[in-house]
Amino acid sequence: MFRHTQLETVKAWLQHPDHAGLPLQGRIQRAIRQLILDGALTAGKPLPATRALAASLGVSRDTVEAAYGQLHAEGFILRRVGSGSFVAEIRDLSPTPRRARPLVRPAGSGPGLGARGRAMVAGGAVGGGGPVRIFRQGLPETRNFPLRLWERLERQVLKEQGSAALVLTDPQGAAPLRQAIADYVNLERGARATADRVLILTSAQQAMALTAQLLLDPGERIFVEDPGYHGARQAFAAAGVVPVPLPVDGQGLVTDLLLARPDLARVVALTPSHQFPTGSTLSLDRRLALIDWAATRGGWIIEDDYDSEFHYVGRPTACVQGLDPQERTIYIGTFTKSLFPGLRIAYLILPPDLVAPFTIARTQQDGHPASIPQLVLARFMQGGHFGSHIRLMRSLYAERMRLLLRLVETHLAGLVAPQVPAGGLQMACHLTCDLPEDRVIAAAEAAGLALTGLSGLYAKAAPRPGFLLGFAAFTPSELETGVRRLAAVLKEGLKAA
Ligand SMILES: Cc1ncc(COP(=O)(O)O)c(C=O)c1O
Repeated sequence: MFRHTQLETVKAWLQHPDHAGLPLQGRIQRAIRQLILDGALTAGKPLPATRALAASLGVSRDTVEAAYGQLHAEGFILRRVGSGSFVAEIRDLSPTPRRARPLVRPAGSGPGLGARGRAMVAGGAVGGGGPVRIFRQGLPETRNFPLRLWERLERQVLKEQGSAALVLTDPQGAAPLRQAIADYVNLERGARATADRVLILTSAQQAMALTAQLLLDPGERIFVEDPGYHGARQAFAAAGVVPVPLPVDGQGLVTDLLLARPDLARVVALTPSHQFPTGSTLSLDRRLALIDWAATRGGWIIEDDYDSEFHYVGRPTACVQGLDPQERTIYIGTFTKSLFPGLRIAYLILPPDLVAPFTIARTQQDGHPASIPQLVLARFMQGGHFGSHIRLMRSLYAERMRLLLRLVETHLAGLVAPQVPAGGLQMACHLTCDLPEDRVIAAAEAAGLALTGLSGLYAKAAPRPGFLLGFAAFTPSELETGVRRLAAVLKEGLKAA
């Protein structure tokens, strides 16, 4: 029989939210196993009859029977026909006597993270799923994605590859995908890439984390944009790297401080094609100045080219990597915006000497991204489908951006000033009325709108209050609903102020 406290312990296991993913029999089995391991149930002690325990726990007898069966198979209990189940003798291999541990972590106790873990968690999550509310920034339209075609290509891959697609493959990434990416960035982004310099990763986020860990030591400084992408900031903070924020103007990152104080840091991370979040493009002078700085300083340029496919005014400027003959640029590309975020495929174009170290380091994180989606994507690109999808989306997003601008000018005149971007999936709007940004964002959220505040993207420079409005993933009627709701939120706010 169990004592009252033991029965309560088993019940607590059954109900604890941490164990919700386990089937009932597994929860009972683990609770009893833990009681045995903690010495609360000692060798020879009889366990309750299955019927009695089932009644006390409010579960079926079969469930308890299955839990006992598993404990027996693992050697924790003995079962004797006619006399019931008993705790088995277990040899304790630990040199010190086992101390009784609480079975269920007391509510409110911390998870015992180290200092680096705490810093990572304090930065908050980057990206993530959840409901798609109007204006969520950075999202592409996924509702019209050619899924049938994708499915057909996947079937072709599986048929041709058979079980070869199921084993671990090249940690640098599938060769056909690396070739397709090199061809694409050379043609469309003016890069200098070859397939053997491409490393396939799951995300730009992983690329930034890997780059920070490999190129910089904890405590070292890195030049970053201010305002800038919070995901990059967090990847660098997690690696223990100290950001040196540099201001941004209409021509992208202001390079003066970097050029004047080259001793401060030897790495710069930036979004030159389409600065996040301001939308400006780094001028050619500054690109060349950065390249010169990196060459003379022995520094590195981390170029996050996250959404340059979507440029609405003229041709997008060539990437920095393609202009850099000294090979000091590490180029990051992602399919999160150009195709769909759930794909989880991104890439680095690396200087030749960095390919092997980066490939080794990535195997220590996750081996390589799933092979089948890599092969399907390679076919999608080689078949010309990527190019046509981009062209289609570019004109759709440009239309949506123009519509959003008209709606903002009509319904939010005097309340916000829109900053028309040259490209990308979102538009920054500065508040021109006397309302605090955080209050506007909270009220908009209550109205079902997902605004990203601009202030949180600034590290040092005085923030210009406002928010980002994502437009690419929303239909004209959703955009109109969103802007009307936002107008109501702002007007209500002003009345109450
Ligand atoms: C500037 C910037 N870089 C990178 C990313 C993320 O790309 P990934 O999903 O591949 O990590 C984003 C996504 O919002 C972004 O805004």
